[in-house]
Amino acid sequence: MKTRHPKGLIVLFFTEMWERFSFYGMRAILVLYLTKETLGANPGMGWTDTRALALYGWYTMLVYVMAIPGGIIADRLLGQKKTVFIGGVLIAIGQLTLVMDSTVAFYTGLALIISGVGCLKPNISTMVGGLYEIGDPRRDSGFTIFYIGINVGAASAPLLVGYIGEVHGWHYGFGLAGIGMLLGLIVYAWGQKYLKTVGNYKPAKKIHGTNKHVPLTKIEKDRIFVLLVSFLIVIIFWAAYEQAGGLMNLYTKEKINRIVFGWEIPTSLFQAVPAIFVIIFGTVVAGYWAGRQRKGKEASSLFKMAVGIIVMGTGFLMMSGAALQAATGVKAMLIWLILSYLLQVIGELSLSPVALSFITKLAPVKYASIMMGIYFAATGLGNKVAGLVGELATHAGALQVFTGIFIFCLAFGLLLLVFFKKLKTLTHGAEDIQEI
Ligand code: PHE
Repeated sequence: MKTRHPKGLIVLFFTEMWERFSFYGMRAILVLYLTKETLGANPGMGWTDTRALALYGWYTMLVYVMAIPGGIIADRLLGQKKTVFIGGVLIAIGQLTLVMDSTVAFYTGLALIISGVGCLKPNISTMVGGLYEIGDPRRDSGFTIFYIGINVGAASAPLLVGYIGEVHGWHYGFGLAGIGMLLGLIVYAWGQKYLKTVGNYKPAKKIHGTNKHVPLTKIEKDRIFVLLVSFLIVIIFWAAYEQAGGLMNLYTKEKINRIVFGWEIPTSLFQAVPAIFVIIFGTVVAGYWAGRQRKGKEASSLFKMAVGIIVMGTGFLMMSGAALQAATGVKAMLIWLILSYLLQVIGELSLSPVALSFITKLAPVKYASIMMGIYFAATGLGNKVAGLVGELATHAGALQVFTGIFIFCLAFGLLLLVFFKKLKTLTHGAEDIQEI
């Protein structure tokens, strides 16, 4: 059995790490920049919170929705490898455009970043899948490693870009995010020699001179049905999980006791906690599932995803605990929040890298990138729903919303556990392991 991973994985790991550094760095300061008053030191745009959050919501949704055209470009025109490069260039130009202090530059920069992420993010993920043959048991762990790279970028960016942006000037922060992307491009260009066999354009068969796509077989249709169910799972997962940046963030600021050894930890630092947990527990969770698989116990992707939703949902039960304590008039203990993030991340690690890998196993090759694009668009939709759910808390109360999320995730996860065997038959053995 091969245990070492292809060298190309390292190249994709660092390229995506820098792209996420740029993305999460920019995200960390976007709302702060928009809402900062226009006069005084390090001036911002002077927007109201509502207006800034609305733009933020659209931005986070659009970056992932643009993965659909990004996927189509890769499938129909350029292949994933070139599309990723173009995406990186667009992001870097976009971030560097934001260095300029003007409204036109601001919107142009955002539009470039949105298009760039749409070209890069889904296609680099498909390329990770392309490094492995069908049935290669290293694929899932390859995605876990890749996912750790994502989170190294996500954990360090808010700290570095956030600090530079807030203390030295927003536009320097945007510039730093741009430099991160440039470093990613350098790694990618250097590593091309390890990516010779992946991400190349495969033209559709020509029939009567036109580019007609071959009709799908019954197996492919069944698999696409399972993919659609996975998209639903993903929407629900991220709609709950993405409370972290919104409702959980505000709740931490107002209701959680953040004083440790006499020092009050700034709220924004907690945003790095989930990413740090991913880095710490990424291989532990993957190892746990691999161990189960070796023992011949159930460890299919659908099963992991169902368990992932339930475990993540349980994280919200911890927040209900915090809300019950806060209702007594004291600030809630920090441990509730930390346990909540821990459970959310364990759930994330059972679902998110697994889902990425699953898509690359199920999608017919000719639609590989577009399917990944739709998967990311589903994430974008989940992000948007998360915002709406978070808003509910202002009317319904945080306790109700946290408990509601827990109950919903538990019920949905259990439903999946009831049906996953049926769904598994529809994958027609896409996951059957062939030891190589
Ligand atoms: N942390 C993940 C990332 O940035 C969140 C995510 C998962 C985003 C899946 C999109 C799709 O990659």
